[in-house]
Amino acid sequence: MVQSITIRRPDDMHLHLRDDAVLRTVLPYSARQFGRAIVMPNLKPPVTTVSAGRAYRERILEALPRGTSFEPLMTCYLCDNTDPAEIRTGFEERVFTAVKLYPAGATTHSEYGVTAIDRVANVLDVMQGLGMPLLIHGESTDPGVDVFDREAAFIDCTLAPLLEKFPALKVVLEHITTEQAADFVYADTSGRLAATITPQHLLFNRNAMFTGGLRPHYYCLPVLKREQHRLALRRVATSGSRSFFLGTDSAPHERGAKEAACGCAGIFSAPTALEAYLTVFDQEHALDHFEAFASENGRLFYGLPPNEGTVTLTRERNEAPRKVALGDGKSIETFMGDGELPWRLVDHPNV
Ligand code: NCD
Ligand code: ZN
Repeated sequence: MVQSITIRRPDDMHLHLRDDAVLRTVLPYSARQFGRAIVMPNLKPPVTTVSAGRAYRERILEALPRGTSFEPLMTCYLCDNTDPAEIRTGFEERVFTAVKLYPAGATTHSEYGVTAIDRVANVLDVMQGLGMPLLIHGESTDPGVDVFDREAAFIDCTLAPLLEKFPALKVVLEHITTEQAADFVYADTSGRLAATITPQHLLFNRNAMFTGGLRPHYYCLPVLKREQHRLALRRVATSGSRSFFLGTDSAPHERGAKEAACGCAGIFSAPTALEAYLTVFDQEHALDHFEAFASENGRLFYGLPPNEGTVTLTRERNEAPRKVALGDGKSIETFMGDGELPWRLVDHPNV
């Protein structure tokens, strides 16, 4: 049995860092493992301009623990009225790496999102020309569509036509959760379509939200699906296909905001993310594909150089805490903290 594994330092291609005190609390957990992260723009207010993207990047860099090397890759929140010139400038000035499309109303802080793809066609044209990736929260917002079918409906009704209309646009279907999404991305061999997969969607099915009662800390969007979908995600993630890569979607919410009558969607996985993914690859006897998923496929899709350095994980009880304190008695619940995982990241003296 393999007791230790060393891989090139990985990247997190989908991360929510928030701002202010939460940013300062959660950032060290990601910076400890990852060389870079694609940072989501769904702040309040959202990051919609080059100057807001630059300022947010500065705040992230200021919040980094001293001596830590970590590069935040910024994204712009797409709105119906986004000016294509702003996107071009942001990309050319190397502030924005990508643009994030939230269908309006699909998830946390998506109220300023896109109401119809046609409204942003001019922006997508510019991005296609620049080779700038579009990151999509792929869920239908039609209230008539069942919550568990929203991803599949989005693929049929919105994504497939969009890919046809913009044949050279680079697209990442974010945090995929279904067999339909896994098959759709797997079948595309053009190299311009890829998907991120979270640790929770590889490790749990929707039963986790209802085990012995309502479990809000397993609630995220897109919501966990039935077992057949989890198995499909595990198949493609561990297959060695270049089209799938690591994106934690770590999304911290203060405990009280989740344990509420109308609880927030989002799972805070940053403290245990890499160990959780490794557990999946280990269970699937696919350790030889772990490095590509974590450290290569994403950066190749984005056209980034490999990270310097390595990380090592050993087979021993994971000591990440069950919750992380925010001060004032507030805290954030950690995904699979408290020894639930059998792998542990060895702290590196230089990071
Ligand atoms: C994310 C958040 O809290 O910002 N929540 C989630 O459940 N994943 C938003 C998102 O990525 O959908
Ligand atoms: Zn997200």
